[in-house]
Amino acid sequence: MKKRVFSGARPTGSQHLGNYLGAIQNYVSLQEEYDCIYCIVDYHALTTMEGREAVKTLQPNIREMALDWLAAGLDPERSAIFVQSHVPEVAELHTILSMNTPLNWLMRVPTFKDKVKQQPENVNYGLLGYPVLMTSDIVLYKAEVVPVGEDQLAHLELAREIVRRFNYLYGDTFPEPQAKLAHIPLIVGLDGVQKMSKQLNNHIELAATPEETETRIMTAFTDPARKFRRDPGHPEACNVFALHQALKVVHADELAKACRNAEIGCVECKRKLAQEINVMLAPFRERRMELAGRSSYVDSVLKEGADRVRRIAQRTMEEVRRNMGLV
Ligand code: TRP
Repeated sequence: MKKRVFSGARPTGSQHLGNYLGAIQNYVSLQEEYDCIYCIVDYHALTTMEGREAVKTLQPNIREMALDWLAAGLDPERSAIFVQSHVPEVAELHTILSMNTPLNWLMRVPTFKDKVKQQPENVNYGLLGYPVLMTSDIVLYKAEVVPVGEDQLAHLELAREIVRRFNYLYGDTFPEPQAKLAHIPLIVGLDGVQKMSKQLNNHIELAATPEETETRIMTAFTDPARKFRRDPGHPEACNVFALHQALKVVHADELAKACRNAEIGCVECKRKLAQEINVMLAPFRERRMELAGRSSYVDSVLKEGADRVRRIAQRTMEEVRRNMGLV
């Protein structure tokens, strides 16, 4: 039997190049080897939103994200693609696992400490329980392999501790999930400093037009030591070169050489990058337009995905209650 993969992402709306190279491409290729479940985690998103205005953005964001996943090649025939809250069993498991999770394990999670700093006005209980909910996502479907970025490793470590404790207390129930890091763990944004993110507005949107893509790339920061066209460049210190490399362009070595010898300027180099990205994304963009035009397609994929995984979830919950003597 194929091993099961589970991954989740918060519904951040239309996806960017960092999401694509860092996560989505990996999701797509894992479909060859594994039984994959991909989840849009709307409950998790609620840990950082309050009020109806904020929550109203969830539905369009879920739809945009699902469209990007599907256009990129997630195949609903092979993989289950669904929305977390459509299978509420996860909330039940979260409640149960929260009783076996010592508070001090949660209080030392680095992402929790970051959030406390970022949103001191909204340090809610759900934020502390975030990793318990994430553990519930994974183990509800008994997934063993979890493709994530480096920033999630601490959460997975905690997930394994929670699983070990549950298995010790109530008998072997869940497999210990293992992280699977993507080949490209971090894509830096156009500012050349921080991780590519929509929030920081240093991103390249997948669904943008080729013209928008080029205009945006022209604003990117490059090697800060190269002031004039005649100055030799330092590709290893250049964000635009890092993107050329991330795209696995065949001639990246030649490009590095030309930059070091000041044979190519930053403007030309950026134009090349825009062209490469536009060529790479052309089939994606075409397919996205086509899927967006089919009314209710996304809804039916998400519904079918939830129906499929709900059966697994219900079976796991029966086993959990049985093992605990909660019957
Ligand atoms: N915490 C993950 C993130 O911020 C999202 C997530 C929720 C997740 N549940 C998951 C990832 C389960 C992997 C498995 O990116």
